[in-house]
Amino acid sequence: MFKVPPVSADRLPALLRAMPKAELHIHIEGSLEPELIFALAQRNDLPLPYPSVEALRNAYAFTNLQSFLDIYYAGASVLLHEQDFYDMGRAYLARAALDNVVHAEIFFDPQTHTARGVAIETVINGLHRACEDAHTTLGISASLILCFLRHLSEDDAFATLEQALPLQDKFIGVGLDSSELGHPPEKFGRVFARCRELGLHVVAHAGEEGPPAYIWSALDVLKAERIDHGVQAFQDAALMQRLAQERIALTVCPLSNQKLRVFPDLKDHNLRQLLDAGLCATVNSDDPAYFGGYINDNFTQVFAATGMTARHAYQLASNSFEASFASDADKRVWQHRLKDAFDRFVEHD
Ligand code: ADE
Ligand code: ZN
Repeated sequence: MFKVPPVSADRLPALLRAMPKAELHIHIEGSLEPELIFALAQRNDLPLPYPSVEALRNAYAFTNLQSFLDIYYAGASVLLHEQDFYDMGRAYLARAALDNVVHAEIFFDPQTHTARGVAIETVINGLHRACEDAHTTLGISASLILCFLRHLSEDDAFATLEQALPLQDKFIGVGLDSSELGHPPEKFGRVFARCRELGLHVVAHAGEEGPPAYIWSALDVLKAERIDHGVQAFQDAALMQRLAQERIALTVCPLSNQKLRVFPDLKDHNLRQLLDAGLCATVNSDDPAYFGGYINDNFTQVFAATGMTARHAYQLASNSFEASFASDADKRVWQHRLKDAFDRFVEHD
């Protein structure tokens, strides 16, 4: 067990930024910055209902998950060609590398695009090429997770899976996102069973706005290997115990939870309690272009608000590698680099 050295509160933000980390909960369409939305609209000759980048950014005032999703799907409608998906993926990975993200598992929502007549190959090939190029040129490793939209039917999810299967070597798993309340995980039991048979990894959003019962069914029906968000688990002691015992990771997104009013005041966020209860919690950005920050902003702001320490920082970064779907060999290298980063940081104190 690595003994985490003490780090003074004023040096902690620099350590949070410097430490290597994995990002496991990032919707690539949620990384689309207003500037890129405007550039793509112009390139594709599409009208936008906002006169300027500033006007669009000013519209980012959300009251709950649905109020965000409405504007998020509208923003994604400027993506038409493979190069658009490439540019979006590449921009995120370049930004993530600056935050010392060494590995990213990236969600994408194909139904948002196929419903507008964009071929699924266009989406997957553009994003996959961005991941490959970023690995070669930036040294960041990245893989893709196809998310089904839970407000649509299971039949629609099956049709999407069918379309994606010829490209199965370009994504590592499936997830479940979009409007949570009223769309419990069990609605997708059969399609997730098929995905598991195909050897895909399985994750699901649950317990963001929805109740602990949705986390139970994500685990028991979908057999999710990680829970995205999962912060409502805190209401259910038996569930907390199971998550801790089975080391089922929660991919927590503090600034998202603040902006969507799950925890309107970051001081009240329960990340520290989840960690202290022994859960494999991680920190992620969710939709950084919409929620005011990338992964390091999530780390520094939630630490400042809740008073977490260097020990929590180490645990969160270590959890992010443990919970990733990367190879054991890659995980060992990153865990080693994490310890080195802490040692180096203290030596220079
Ligand atoms: N799609 C993009 N961001 C999401 C979130 N936070 N919850 C559910 N679906 C999403
Ligand atoms: Zn999400």
